[in-house]
Amino acid sequence: MKVIFDCDPGLDDGVALIAAFGSDDLDIKAITTVFGCSTVENTTTNALKFLDFIGREDVKVAKGASMSMEGKTDIAPFVHGETGFKNIFLPETKNKPYEKNAIETIYEVVMESDEKTFIITTGPLTNVGQAISRYPDLVERIGGISIMGGAIGMGNKNPVAEANIWNDPIAAKIVFDSGIPITMSGLNVTFKAKVYEKEIEEIKKIGTPIAKLAAGFLQAHFEFYKAQGFDGDPVHDLCAVASLVKKDIFTMVHCHVDVETKGEFTKGETVVDLQNKYGKVKNSFICTDVDRDAFVEFLKDRIVKLSKSVYVEKEKIDGK
Ligand code: RIB
Ligand code: CA
Repeated sequence: MKVIFDCDPGLDDGVALIAAFGSDDLDIKAITTVFGCSTVENTTTNALKFLDFIGREDVKVAKGASMSMEGKTDIAPFVHGETGFKNIFLPETKNKPYEKNAIETIYEVVMESDEKTFIITTGPLTNVGQAISRYPDLVERIGGISIMGGAIGMGNKNPVAEANIWNDPIAAKIVFDSGIPITMSGLNVTFKAKVYEKEIEEIKKIGTPIAKLAAGFLQAHFEFYKAQGFDGDPVHDLCAVASLVKKDIFTMVHCHVDVETKGEFTKGETVVDLQNKYGKVKNSFICTDVDRDAFVEFLKDRIVKLSKSVYVEKEKIDGK
């Protein structure tokens, strides 16, 4: 399956990237970056360093939006630290972003492919929304979009809005209204997709640089949630990868989703029409539950697979 990974790495994006690159069934053609967990400068650098570390400099990194379609920007250093990768220091890289920006790269990759391309998104939907607006012929050429974003009746930015949608509701609306098949992993399911500390320790003990990197991302991400009383790390972004390549571990419902772009109290809400009140075309598969044990096994399996496939003979991650 040909894939573009649109992300704002980000600690949980980092875990999702490891799982995606450890999945042989995904042929990842480009990483496109966006603001979110940190500035787009930082998320782009993080993507470049990550690819260098795993020996996949052949994959394009295209820099994307620094702000939402409304011209707003918001980042989350309180979760992801000043750089986006908090206390995880990957080796420096000499590699540079692709000459085209994220919008042009999405169009190029999708149109030059002889089969439909899938998109995984783990950040604000600004790049994808703008690409679809500028190039409507993309719609027929994209096989599906697996989104980490949204929620059913809950939020982490306001009582009903999740950060990736709240950061750019206009772009999110364009994506949900596009007619492209969507799988949505919202907070309802991602808060169930937890990795416990003892499992983070097991991952670390796999012992490879990739496993240590994954454990470092998980532990650093968990620090934020542990302080709030969570008993495990909700690995939000990993759900967008797992629900694409390991669908059977999720429970999904098919229904219509609208995005609230203007609400005084509800801006950024994904209004999930579970009871089909509006009778609109069902545009999304919503993940409502996950087999947590299988989710953790999936992650371990992909860490082992990526560890075997890469040529990581550079500096080791020491988590400093
Ligand atoms: O709300 C969780 C999302 O916000 C995740 O994608 C996380 O990485 C941040 O972008
Ligand atoms: Ca993210």
